[in-house]
Amino acid sequence: MIASRIVGTGVYLPKEVRTNVDLEKVVDTNDEWIFERTGIRQRHICSTEGGEWPTDMACQATKDILAEGGYRPNDIDMILFATLTPDFKLPNCACVLQEKLGITNKCATLDISAACSGFVYGMALADALIKTEMASHILVVGSEMLSRELNWKDRNTCVLFGDGCGAALIGRAKEGEKSEVLSSCLNGDGKGAEFFSQPIGGSVSPITVENLQKQNHFMSMKGKEMFRVATRTMAESAWAVMKKAKMELDDISWFIPHQANARIIETTGKLLGLPREKLVMNIDKYANTSAATVPIALHEAISDGRIKRGDLVLLDAFGAGLTSGAVLLRY
Ligand code: UT7
Repeated sequence: MIASRIVGTGVYLPKEVRTNVDLEKVVDTNDEWIFERTGIRQRHICSTEGGEWPTDMACQATKDILAEGGYRPNDIDMILFATLTPDFKLPNCACVLQEKLGITNKCATLDISAACSGFVYGMALADALIKTEMASHILVVGSEMLSRELNWKDRNTCVLFGDGCGAALIGRAKEGEKSEVLSSCLNGDGKGAEFFSQPIGGSVSPITVENLQKQNHFMSMKGKEMFRVATRTMAESAWAVMKKAKMELDDISWFIPHQANARIIETTGKLLGLPREKLVMNIDKYANTSAATVPIALHEAISDGRIKRGDLVLLDAFGAGLTSGAVLLRY
């Protein structure tokens, strides 16, 4: 039976670093509050001069993957681009990225709108599409420039997010090699839509002078409500993929959760009975980069030697929508 595997991973992090102390100068907050409540110390912020738009970051991350694995751009035969901060409303980021990478094979190009779960959605879809022979090398990207969509006067949101990109190339698993995606689950729950939203700017409420003057076109979040559903949802996704693969949580080598809040990660880890050493956490350096948190954490843990080929890795995310999902894989 055909299976899929992670062939390579890459990241791009914007050059500018903004610390909590820097934010003390723009909004009524402080380093102590941010770190204690979220685990965040700093975040990377994209340049607004160009060169670090979501597709630029994805282009760089992908070039690194291709160079590392000895692939050519035209080896990619599908692009799944997860983002809630696309370069443009039209065309989609996947098409823009295809052009920037110099891919000329007219491969399928799709953006995924699943907020912070976007990369996990992309991984699950890539696995299914490879299994059904729709494609053989699928590039899955999570890339965000959230700094553009934040109200820098709203301390409830602006301290929580950062910019960055992570990507993975998914290919066919080789026979006899223990490296493959084992199971996945994807979920949605529209009842939680109001917990995290940005209703201005769509068809229902287009951007108008009045909306801009009222400054209500930014993302807004009910943090406490999100927190409450996050831990339960992530645990449920984890249990679902373990059950599907007929495996036990004890077998997990590394848990790579969406990085929204260190307390959410620790609470979920406890619910799942996972020891702290198995949790991959980097929220202190990058804050919440939405669809990019999981691939950035995955790439870092691979690059620094924590994750080795053959390790059992659990990717798990939740986000606005509400969306959620998990992917269990043998790296
Ligand atoms: O990626 C998916 C989307 N993200 C999430 O799902 C995030 C989930 N939620 C969270 O991570 C947490 O709920 C937050 C970090 C957003 C907030 O933490 P909290 O412990 O739930 O704090 P809170 O909202 O209950 O606020 C506690 C206090 C309030 O003051 P009072 O009313 O107790 O006097 C806030 O006004 O902290 C105040 N506060 C701040 N103080 C300093 C809120 N934001 C800040 C701030 N700096 N940035």
